[in-house]
Amino acid sequence: MTAFRSQYCGDARKEQVGRTITVAGWVNRRRDHGGLIFIDLRDREGILQVVFNPEVSKGSHAVAIELRNEYVLRVTGKVHLRPPGTENPKLGTGDVELIAEDAEILNRSKTPPFYINEDVEVDEALRLKYRYLYIRREKMQRNLILRHRVVKFMRDFLDDRGFIEIETPVLIKSTPEGARDYLVPSRIYPGKFYALPQSPQQLKQLLMVAGMDKYFQVARCFRDEDPRADRQPEFTQLDLEMSFVDEHDVLDLMEDLFASMVETVTPEKKTAKPFPRLTYKEAMERYGCDKPDIRFGLELAELSDIFAGTEFSVFRTVLEAGGMVKGFAATGCAGYSRSELAGLTEFVKSRGAKGLVTMALEAGSDPAGSPARDSAKSVITKFLTSEQLDEIVKRLGGKTGDLLLIVADQPKTTNAVLAALRSEMASRLGLIDPDVLAFTFILDYPLFERTEDGRWEPMHHPFTAPRDEDIPLLDTDPGSVGARHYDFVCNGCEISSGSIRIHDRRLQEKIFEILGYSKEETEERFGHLLEALEFGAPPHGGIAPGIDRFIMLLIGEDNIREVIAFPKTQSAVDLMLDSPSPVSADQLRELHLRVTEA
Ligand code: AMO
Repeated sequence: MTAFRSQYCGDARKEQVGRTITVAGWVNRRRDHGGLIFIDLRDREGILQVVFNPEVSKGSHAVAIELRNEYVLRVTGKVHLRPPGTENPKLGTGDVELIAEDAEILNRSKTPPFYINEDVEVDEALRLKYRYLYIRREKMQRNLILRHRVVKFMRDFLDDRGFIEIETPVLIKSTPEGARDYLVPSRIYPGKFYALPQSPQQLKQLLMVAGMDKYFQVARCFRDEDPRADRQPEFTQLDLEMSFVDEHDVLDLMEDLFASMVETVTPEKKTAKPFPRLTYKEAMERYGCDKPDIRFGLELAELSDIFAGTEFSVFRTVLEAGGMVKGFAATGCAGYSRSELAGLTEFVKSRGAKGLVTMALEAGSDPAGSPARDSAKSVITKFLTSEQLDEIVKRLGGKTGDLLLIVADQPKTTNAVLAALRSEMASRLGLIDPDVLAFTFILDYPLFERTEDGRWEPMHHPFTAPRDEDIPLLDTDPGSVGARHYDFVCNGCEISSGSIRIHDRRLQEKIFEILGYSKEETEERFGHLLEALEFGAPPHGGIAPGIDRFIMLLIGEDNIREVIAFPKTQSAVDLMLDSPSPVSADQLRELHLRVTEA
């Protein structure tokens, strides 16, 4: 391999028995059995048991006496079969051991602040401060290697499909993606700032105007936004853009890329083509959210029309105030105890609902097995006729033994609460197969949504094209304009958004106008793009899957930090480099900056 070592520790196999090899790595564990000393030597590819026998090499044995965990060692010796009964099937090298003939300590190590050889919980602050030690853990090495394989697969796949990888600058001008910008002060131009890209959105559109036809980039993006377990201030997208396409061309490409990637990189995971394509409306109706986890059923159904005709005044009042009643059947949960039901009510209340109506469909007298009136246990049955009760059970697909869960509130709250409750029940019921990656596309979003202060905001970003047939509605009813925007979802998590873009200057100006930008502001912020649209911009569209977020799902990690080599804390701090940190007065002066508050 090199003059330094002949191979990786983790690559030793029984085919090599009798051969002399040289390996180098870290002491994972040391066991002193009186005469014999056993060292588990670790490198990126795995662990190899090394035996130090004073009768084979006195010098090596003397070296082994000195070894401690994380010392760096080079050993030369012969590969032997392990004595029968001492094989370790958990290790790739488990059939063999290396009998040391020569050993050299290459470096010593202080006692690490946490165990590297065991996957035990480590305080997050320590994990981030000593990131290079945490990355030595087998799990992190595996995660980073898998990440490399995913990115390599993406690059090769897109290269095959005629995409060109083009780097775009990191010092740019603000591009709106809904977060705050990170700004970089200019030394040469006092009072002026570069912005770090929230995404290369405008640049990739300009590359389409430039005739590059199919672009991609493994692009670093920067967003100063509220932290979450699946967010980082800087993260990586597989950013891509294509000319002369419609929505389904982009989605077909994603389907082929992700299905073949999963098959190649993680064949143990299950995924099925075609990925379902749902409209936004359908997703909201059936799952209460636009990032549905379709690994399980428990689909929602609306009951507003039934409750509008009942004597149950609590729900009627909600409906009269523009609310909505929806629910679903939790399979086999009719036997929930009073305190379990109280727990569910607490769950929905903590997410903003006023309450939860439950209906247990206990085994009744009906021989056909359909839940009869006298077997439906709920505080609301007395307000319902038999027909209404039957209709509710039917609509929610309830079977004997199920528990119906019903929420009435404003549509936004009803949907959000039921979406959360649906996931909660699925995990309680063990309906989620961790080996399945269930991809979905969501289409037909509205172009705008109203802010609380009555303004219009883009659902995605302002460059998304409206549906052609809805363009006349921009003047009369912006709220009902449909967008050529799509989301790409996996296991209930948004991994990407994208759209067909506007390629006409006048239409783009109209959108900025509806969003409330003045003519001057539009010119100042987007003049470059608007002008480019006048030089023969082709129809184009694209998408940008978040790589960190997708790898999280692929590996089944709950936190995005576990798939990034050097991440920041939840509060955007790099504990290893101690950043952000103050800078010298000279640097501030040079940048024409004064810090007013510490
Ligand atoms: P969007 O803003 O939806 O679209 O981002 C695309 C994907 O990037 C990932 N992502 C993040 N990952 C980690 N930390 C974050 N803070 C973070 N923010 C976003 C998500 C998200 O789905 N330019 C458009 C794409 C396009 O229209 O082509 C864009 O950036 O997985």
